[in-house]
Amino acid sequence: MRLTPLYAAGGVERSLYRLPAPLDLDRLLPGDGPWQVEIGFGKGRFLLERALACPEQRFLGIEVASKYFRLLARRAARRGGRNLVALRGEALYLLSTFLPRGFASAVHVYFPDPWPKSRHHKRRLFDPETVDLVLGLLRPGGELDFATDFLAYGERVAELLAAVPGLEVERLPGPWPDGARTNYEAKYMAAGRPILRLAARLREPLPELWLHPDGRAGVLAAVAPPRSGDEPAG
Ligand SMILES: C[S@@+](CC[C@H](N)C(=O)[O-])C[C@H]1O[C@@H](n2cnc3c(N)ncnc32)[C@H](O)[C@@H]1O
Repeated sequence: MRLTPLYAAGGVERSLYRLPAPLDLDRLLPGDGPWQVEIGFGKGRFLLERALACPEQRFLGIEVASKYFRLLARRAARRGGRNLVALRGEALYLLSTFLPRGFASAVHVYFPDPWPKSRHHKRRLFDPETVDLVLGLLRPGGELDFATDFLAYGERVAELLAAVPGLEVERLPGPWPDGARTNYEAKYMAAGRPILRLAARLREPLPELWLHPDGRAGVLAAVAPPRSGDEPAG
């Protein structure tokens, strides 16, 4: 059994194993501040800085690598980031099982693994079969900020987002107004590497159970036809 530790800045670490889904985020981190989520926070530079700068808001980070999860947990505890919860786990698993829907005022995804081989595209955070999970975190009016140096993936993400009803997508001509946000972004900007940045805003709630048309179209169902002499179903 793989246990998923959970860290709330301030020192509590426990497993999600016995917690009911969807996770009761308000119980985990009481308050009425809006939630921002970062998926794949790496060394956690952006998440911690944002959390410290916006103490009236609440922050949830998801990271699959234990060493980065623990690094952020240690830094947050040291620097007093008490409005931050870090989850160690696979993001698509957490999005499809534990996390509530429509609660985040902002979702941040910076330099996610591009999974360049086409047989691995289904592991991407943004693919026709997964994009609804990421966008499903947003409440109406919520924003998604995305950046990648893998330009072909960025173009695909822009195309997928353009098909989402009620989502306005803007391609930034240059850096974020607040400059490089994450470690990867700082490293790539210093190296002069091109970066594709998207800022999207959900103007209207996503239709219930919205699935990307390309993802839904790939799902097939087969039922064996009745044989003569079978009892009619029902
Ligand atoms: C290229 S790094 C970028 C880190 C950070 N966002 C930055 O810009 O500096 C990608 C990060 O996403 C994490 N990651 C990759 N796949 C993930 C998944 N399925 N669920 C959660 N985290 C994931 C990796 O462990 C890694 O820390």
